Amino acid sequence: MLTPDMLHRTATPSQTETVSNRRARLVYDALMDQPGSAGSLSLSRQYLEDQLQQAAGLPCDLPLRPEAILGWMEHQAIATGDRYAAYLDSRKAGQPRRYFSCKSHALAFLQRVAPTKLVDGSWLYGVLDKWNDRRFYGLIRTYLEELGDGIPAQNHVVLYQRLLAEEGCETLPEFSDEHYLQGAVQLALGYHAEEFMPELIGYNLGYEQLPLHLLITAFELNELDIDPYYFTLHVTIDNAATGHARKAVQSVLDTMPGVGDKRAFLKRVANGYRLNDLGIGTLDVIEAFDLESDLVDMFERKRAFGQQMHSDFCRIGGRTVNEWLSRPGNIPDFLQALEERGWIKRHEDPRNSRFWQLIDGPDAQMFGVFTGFEKQLLRDWIAGDWFGNAGSTATAGGRATAFRPRARRRAVSNDVPSVQAHKAGDLDQELVELQRTLRELPTQARMQRLAELMAPASHSSAAGLLATRLFTAALG
Ligand SMILES: [Fe+2]
Ligand SMILES: [Fe+2]
Repeated sequence: MLTPDMLHRTATPSQTETVSNRRARLVYDALMDQPGSAGSLSLSRQYLEDQLQQAAGLPCDLPLRPEAILGWMEHQAIATGDRYAAYLDSRKAGQPRRYFSCKSHALAFLQRVAPTKLVDGSWLYGVLDKWNDRRFYGLIRTYLEELGDGIPAQNHVVLYQRLLAEEGCETLPEFSDEHYLQGAVQLALGYHAEEFMPELIGYNLGYEQLPLHLLITAFELNELDIDPYYFTLHVTIDNAATGHARKAVQSVLDTMPGVGDKRAFLKRVANGYRLNDLGIGTLDVIEAFDLESDLVDMFERKRAFGQQMHSDFCRIGGRTVNEWLSRPGNIPDFLQALEERGWIKRHEDPRNSRFWQLIDGPDAQMFGVFTGFEKQLLRDWIAGDWFGNAGSTATAGGRATAFRPRARRRAVSNDVPSVQAHKAGDLDQELVELQRTLRELPTQARMQRLAELMAPASHSSAAGLLATRLFTAALG
């Protein structure tokens, strides 16, 4: 891993540009892989300072009068509800989906926001140290709820991991550094809570408000037969009446200095709030999708592995498949050759295409070569207009009547490893050991050890989930 020291040592002018273009990713990886190292901490601290400086130049709608914050939050929640009602009306009137043109578009979105979703809640990690201070109770409760109170079926990171896996999306391609910015900011806040507490509280206030895009995303995922539970869960858990949005406001009020400069505190809160606006936004991510170029990129990524794997028996457009795949940049012409020679019949049921038959189904010659997401990309590209006509209900617009998310198709197990009835499995044994060690520690040391296990990179493991349940119980 690169540390700030190494950055200085290895950087030449051109390398500086490359390294600085990857800063978010470096911070993200440093705090996920080696959060305790001095290098990770100084790298992320500097990064957070720089982001706060950037944020300071952005506009901000947060009122700087404490008595106005609750009303501001409620007003925002009502306005979001109104805009969502207008969206539903437009759908009932026959408008097409607003966000996702097809299923692979939605899956690409799930992948591109994954770096943020897979560290959900992490900005609150550092408040666990305040378990003995009632002013931080709301923030700690929010973190515990992000972790599902240690129940895997309610742990937001586990839920997102399972959503990706369910849709064959778990192998993430390389994204630009911007896709890691929010995750890096969240982790940095989590690891520098003591020094940046007002900014953390402000970031939390912004992040926990219910945005319109969450509601529309949940609606359209459901329409595309993708489990929307992760998103609907956030609609309910972040609610303005009693949920995280409300707790976020209360936390600003609870932690405000009784004596001293309230305005200076609120200015720092507002700057943390602005951090939410840095980086690539949800709508930018959605708009960046282009089916054809995503398809070409996907084939280009696979090309390196497939270039020697095909027999030379079959020639397409005068070249063997191995020849087509032998160097970068051939994929668009290869796809065109497949179309011209009748291997792919676009704007028809994909099952009519010989190329699709090679890929889909248990007897297909290339069975297992493409992930669920990659197959969906190809399927959507081949089907094209056919989906809009007789093809698939999954992309037909204007069938919105009301938002009634289907029952979750695959229940996520609520099972947690039993520490009492262990059957001498290594994992269970490890948890029993851990629980025994914890029992022997005095309260302060025990809470600290539990908090260590509840770090962003480990809270979704068996030990992290156990620690979360014990911490939750101890907090009462
Ligand atoms: Fe969450
Ligand atoms: Fe939340």
